[in-house]
Amino acid sequence: MENGTKKVWHFQAAANGAANGNGNGKARSKAAVATIREVRFALMDNLNKEDQRPLIELGHGDPSSFPCFRTDSAAEDAIVDAVRSGKFNSYGPSAGILPARRAIAGYLNNGLPYELSPEDVFMTLGCAHAIEVTLTTLARPGSNILLPRPGYPYYDACAANRNLEVRHYGLLSDHGWEVDLEAVESLTDHNTAAIVIVNPGNPCGNVYSYEHLKKIAETARKLGILVIADEVYGHLAFGSNPFVAMGVFGSIAPVITLGSISKRWIVPGWRLGWLVISDPNNVLRNSGVCLFKPTLLEIKTRSLF
Ligand SMILES: Cc1ncc(COP(=O)(O)O)c(C=O)c1O
Repeated sequence: MENGTKKVWHFQAAANGAANGNGNGKARSKAAVATIREVRFALMDNLNKEDQRPLIELGHGDPSSFPCFRTDSAAEDAIVDAVRSGKFNSYGPSAGILPARRAIAGYLNNGLPYELSPEDVFMTLGCAHAIEVTLTTLARPGSNILLPRPGYPYYDACAANRNLEVRHYGLLSDHGWEVDLEAVESLTDHNTAAIVIVNPGNPCGNVYSYEHLKKIAETARKLGILVIADEVYGHLAFGSNPFVAMGVFGSIAPVITLGSISKRWIVPGWRLGWLVISDPNNVLRNSGVCLFKPTLLEIKTRSLF
């Protein structure tokens, strides 16, 4: 209270949706708190304290928290050498330095029926930043995006913050958490920009077969939408399905692959990720209305730094 009147802070009003004028504030607040951690903490709080059995946390997304998991010493040495060389202290290109983009393209080329070039690769601050850049680039007035349910809630939070409407499609629990492609078709309209798939899946742990990924690409082609493939858990696959990169089907529908070294190399704190365009037919690049030209992505990325 100041002089008997209640002080109004406008940033508070924007956060709860009263003043931003677009009615999206509630969705933003909801998306901001709806993280898997909230659920995990609620479960932990409600455990029977009398029960002495040891607890194995299967919901932990940071392998480096466990001392038995340590990245390879070659990776640590490379970082130390790079720092000591003094060659990397200046501002670099916002899409990443060429040797790193080349290395990522080379790594992701493995198993693809065509070759990625370093120009297809944009380096980001972990996969989370790749999600932010991609959704920022896609958000146009009225546009919507298809997200899986259950899914990784960061997508919902990022979409809400960019006024990008979210439409959830179901994952089929009795079919290995496959995408409900019928639901995808019924949810899509001419304002739908993309479908997000997370493979290997978080939180369900599914690994999609080659055939299912191909069907997703064919559906995306039929609907005229882009596939965003979150492969942050790529190559960390258990079970009978081997991991197949969505980029394999980039000639059916354009694919933006998001990934990072966080999980497979056990270094989430290093914040090194990527956004890679798999589009051998140049659908994105040749489209007059497309917003995904590398130069534009670079501008978008630059604006976030
Ligand atoms: C599906 C998914 N995407 C992206 C991320 C973020 O990855 P990063 O730590 O590289 O930002 C995570 C982290 O848990 C994740 O589970």
